[in-house]
Amino acid sequence: MNQSQITYWCHEVIRSQSRQGGYYIDATMGNGNDTLFLCELAGDDGHVLAFDIQEEALCTTRELLQSHGYEKRATLVKDGHEHMDRYAEQELADVICFNFGYLPGGDHEIATKLQTSIVAVEKGLQILKSSGMMSLCIYSGGDTGFEEKEGILTYLKELPAKKYTVIVNEYYNRGNHPPMPVFIFKK
Ligand SMILES: C[S@@+](CC[C@H](N)C(=O)[O-])C[C@H]1O[C@@H](n2cnc3c(N)ncnc32)[C@H](O)[C@@H]1O
Repeated sequence: MNQSQITYWCHEVIRSQSRQGGYYIDATMGNGNDTLFLCELAGDDGHVLAFDIQEEALCTTRELLQSHGYEKRATLVKDGHEHMDRYAEQELADVICFNFGYLPGGDHEIATKLQTSIVAVEKGLQILKSSGMMSLCIYSGGDTGFEEKEGILTYLKELPAKKYTVIVNEYYNRGNHPPMPVFIFKK
């Protein structure tokens, strides 16, 4: 994987905060690449809870996990991440991963939306353990527009510094609205 790609960068930071036997949440399953990565980190003793609203995403991810023998490491949930508190209790997760936007190769209309994304991040921060981390890949421009990115950044700016460290990264010299990797560390 290209080391300057957003996925590579987010995975490396997540890896640095991970532990075998940990509890991981993939809030946007998509084609399952992040779920697979989190299953590798979790090991046989850990677990991954993954969400998507599209059946197609669950099917692709299930097949991907099966091809690696990891199907027992993950629970795939067909529900919006804004309901993640129905499936996970507070202070449970070591890492929560969001990769916003639409399913690559799928319908661009079925994408994450500001209103539900904010609820999901808010609930995710409650579900995150102290000293856990949340990774966000935020996209903008094109079919995605700017509302979600701007709304999430405004929300993150208001998070209390005593409780959270928010690090917003930028592809500084790249045009065409590059993706934005964000990391939140819970104290
Ligand atoms: C960019 S893709 C995720 C990529 C994925 N992590 C991967 O490794 O392939 C974004 C996904 O978010 C899903 N999504 C949209 N709204 C959602 C919601 N409210 N809850 C959970 N997933 C949602 C879309 O269906 C889409 O599959």
